[in-house]
Amino acid sequence: MSEAVHEVPAAWAKRAYIDDAKYQAMYQRSIDDPNGFWAEHGQRIHWMTPFTKVKNTDYNGDVSIKWFEDGVTNVAYNCIDRHLKNRADQVAIIWEGDDPSESKKITYQELHDEVCRMANILRLRNVEKGDRVTIYMPMIPEAAYAMLACARIGAIHSVVFGGFSPDSLAQRITDCESKCIITADEGLRGGRKVPLKANVDAAIAKSGGVDHVIVVRRTGGAVEMDPVRDVWYHEAADVVTAECPCAEMNAEDPLFILYTSGSTGKPKGVLHTTGGYLVFASMTHQYVFDYHDGDIYWCTADVGWVTGHSYILYGPLANGATTLMFEGVPNYPTNSRFWEVIDKHKVNTFYTAPTAIRALMQAGDEPVKKTSRASLRLLGSVGEPINPEAWEWYYRVVGDNRCPIVDTWWQTETGGILITPLPGATKLKPGSATRPFFGVKPQIVDAEGKPLEGAVSGNLCITDSWPGQMRSVYGDHQRFIETYFKTYPGKYFTGDGCRRDEDGYYWITGRVDDVINVSGHRMGTAEVESSLVLHEKVSEAAVVGYPHDIKGQGIYAYVTLMNGVEPSEELRKELVAHVRKDIGPIAAPDKIQFSPGLPKTRSGKIMRRILRKIAEDDFGNLGDTSTLADPAVVDDLVNNRQNKK
Ligand code: WT7
Repeated sequence: MSEAVHEVPAAWAKRAYIDDAKYQAMYQRSIDDPNGFWAEHGQRIHWMTPFTKVKNTDYNGDVSIKWFEDGVTNVAYNCIDRHLKNRADQVAIIWEGDDPSESKKITYQELHDEVCRMANILRLRNVEKGDRVTIYMPMIPEAAYAMLACARIGAIHSVVFGGFSPDSLAQRITDCESKCIITADEGLRGGRKVPLKANVDAAIAKSGGVDHVIVVRRTGGAVEMDPVRDVWYHEAADVVTAECPCAEMNAEDPLFILYTSGSTGKPKGVLHTTGGYLVFASMTHQYVFDYHDGDIYWCTADVGWVTGHSYILYGPLANGATTLMFEGVPNYPTNSRFWEVIDKHKVNTFYTAPTAIRALMQAGDEPVKKTSRASLRLLGSVGEPINPEAWEWYYRVVGDNRCPIVDTWWQTETGGILITPLPGATKLKPGSATRPFFGVKPQIVDAEGKPLEGAVSGNLCITDSWPGQMRSVYGDHQRFIETYFKTYPGKYFTGDGCRRDEDGYYWITGRVDDVINVSGHRMGTAEVESSLVLHEKVSEAAVVGYPHDIKGQGIYAYVTLMNGVEPSEELRKELVAHVRKDIGPIAAPDKIQFSPGLPKTRSGKIMRRILRKIAEDDFGNLGDTSTLADPAVVDDLVNNRQNKK
């Protein structure tokens, strides 16, 4: 295999905080003396009461993870108030609307005032420390105000991506017992409206238990307002002050819950806490993106995902950065939009997902080349493995061969980036996330959990804790232990497969569990299956991923219909629409194969290995099928496959 290597540009080695020698030394120290290392870097945030203890973590038994456990701090204070002395008039957030004619800039002082108002609105509605607030918002500054307002008063936010259905929203409201929801009348994406408030109404009709809904006016579209429960944000904001004290939070008090799909059951509420999370988010943001004062930084994620939490909001703002928040989509009004926004706001660092890069690559070079992009210095990638072709295009066409690419591997669970290049230190290999960040101890193990040395492939574990790690599954610590620490006892198992090469570089190969990664969004196959079998005409369903040119993975569903129901094109459409409505558009199957039977072992276990191969149109080698209860079903599956090449 020929591997291209891109050396660190000389200018970068000079400018960057970290060069290779520094990386080696700092990494070694972080592993040899985690307490000393993190005691020092824990100082990067302000503590109302300094910590005296640093690391107290145990991956065995009940699994307990504590960092800086006797420290007291506040995330909003760190992201806003402490910058006011020197940066009150500096832009904190550049907001770029869906419509290119709409944008605005919010200074740190303005951010302070807006966050305080939102916090006071919550306080007036009896939201207290430890209460859960669900945020279901478009990408508008009020989403940031809402999150920071919760952090300010010690409420725990649970942001639900605006693309999720009312049922998915209801499930998440119920799981964490939110009594208060912050939303908008409608969202606006690619010129299309998303009925957020109507979805909230439908969700509450199902979940119950919500006392207050705060509604931000975004589009001015008609919505129903419950006179007791609902209030307009602009009206509520008029009657509160722009001052609100910061709650004193213990380092281990929860900051947020974020639901994510796993290989089984309903989404898990990933719980992150205060001190360690902020130290890790801000430190990774500074070093991975080599953030310097005055840089304009843009991460294209949605705040509904962890990337938006750590790298639009908390990391950058803790560093006093200028962070760009984009409401729209990459191809609206045209395929030049990203690059035009970069020129308009003189963006220096641009962080996006491989799926967006692949989609824009298909539109050709011209929409990129007609823009300048001269302000760009650094590019980033996150969410799924980036194929070397897309990497090279991103590097050559978007970055004009001058900007390093940081391919950052991490997860909702990890809180921040764990494996990544540092732009002034790391030679790049297209497709590799390269080396571990400070304090991160990756290990590749075989199926039995035996550690593998040298250049090998296997399953990726992390053998010791880092400050940004999730602490629990909200309300279900047992599930936390079962999901992450039981497969390979005493290690955090990531669910990813991984190869390490001769240079010690890590190459993430994708999930090894029943999770698929569709356009950088995580989907549990079990969730899509549960949704399909809810449909009255479906008797059984099995879902697998298959390689998809743009999305990375597509969703392939095998569906067995109820007796007497005939397969049809209409039914196929009906099932896709059903899943869209039930979970959300991101879960909609790309392919549905009607199959009278599924390949099962005699004990009734579905052999997904076979289903994956057929979905990939790679049925020449299905392996041993002799243990199947009815080997004949395989012929039917092969003959009716939906991905014939
Ligand atoms: C899964 C986590 C981390 C924020 C966005 C996704 C995959 C993520 C990379 C990368 C290869 C990657 C992994 C991981 N993934 N980044 N740079 N290279 N794979 O967060 O929804 O929690 O998904 O995304 O499979 O386990 P998430």
